[in-house]
Amino acid sequence: MYHSINETTEFIRRKIGDFAPEFGIILGTGLGKLVDEIEVEYQLMYSNIPNFPISTVEFHSGKLIFGKLSGRNVVAMQGRLHYYEGYDMQQITFPIRIMKVLGVQKLFVSNAAGSLNPDVKKGDLGIIEDHINLLPDNPLRGQNLAEFGPRFPDMSEPYNRKMIEQALEIAAKHAIAARKVVYVSSAGPNLETKAEYRYMRLIGGDVVGMSTVPEVIVANHMALPVFAISVVTDEGFHEQLKPVSLQEIVTVAEKAEPKMTLILKELIALQ
Ligand code: HPA
Repeated sequence: MYHSINETTEFIRRKIGDFAPEFGIILGTGLGKLVDEIEVEYQLMYSNIPNFPISTVEFHSGKLIFGKLSGRNVVAMQGRLHYYEGYDMQQITFPIRIMKVLGVQKLFVSNAAGSLNPDVKKGDLGIIEDHINLLPDNPLRGQNLAEFGPRFPDMSEPYNRKMIEQALEIAAKHAIAARKVVYVSSAGPNLETKAEYRYMRLIGGDVVGMSTVPEVIVANHMALPVFAISVVTDEGFHEQLKPVSLQEIVTVAEKAEPKMTLILKELIALQ
C-alpha cells in the first residue's frame, strides 16, 4: 500500500508542480457542478493516474481537479467510488490517502441521500453530525498503516463540530433548510425496502446513502477533519413509501445542488 501511495503521489506531483491543495472535496451523485465554481489549474483523469480505481457509473466523469475555490487551493474528486460498483474499501478510500499526502488539511464530502426522518424533506440539506456504518466491510481492516494513524482510531467526533456550526449559520443566513443528521450507510445498489427504512429510522438514522462512511473512516484514521453534507433526494418514510428511480434522485440532487454549492463555498472561505 505504501508503495502505491508513493507512486501515485509522485505522479501527481510531477503533473501539478508546486500547486499545494489545502482542502479536499468529494462530489456525490448529481452534485458535480461545484466544479464549475473552481478556477481549474490542473485536471487529471482517474484513468491516467497510476493505481487509481476508475469509476464505472456513467454520470461520474472521473476526474481529479486542482484549482481555486473561494480563493483557496482545493483538490476535488469529480466522481466518487462506491462499494456497490465492486471496489473494495481500500480502493474506495485510496484517493483520501493521496489527498492527505498531498497536504490536504480538511475534507469536504457531499452525497445524495434518502430521508428516514419525516422532518427532513426531499430537497433539504442534511449536515452530517454522526453516522452508523452498515457496510459489510471496513477500509481499516487488515494491516494498520501505522504511518497514517492508529490501529484503533477514535470515532467520538467523526465530523468536525466547528464546521457543522459554521455550515448551519451559513444555511440560516440564506434561509436554506438544513439540519444536523445521522447518516446510515447501506451497501446498495438497491434502495431500501420499507422494513429496512423503518429499521434504519429505529436505530437512529435520519438519512441513508451508499457512500461517505468509508472515506470518513479513513480521514479520521489520519486525523483529517471532515465536513459532510447530504442532499436529500427521496423520502423513505416507510408508511407511505413510493417507488423511486435513479433518474428522480439525480434530478432532485441537481435541483438542490446550488444550495449545497453555496454552503460549501462559503464554508471553505471561512477556514
Ligand atoms: N437509499 C440509499 N441510498 C440513497 C437513497 C436511498 O433512499 N437516496 C439516495 N441515495
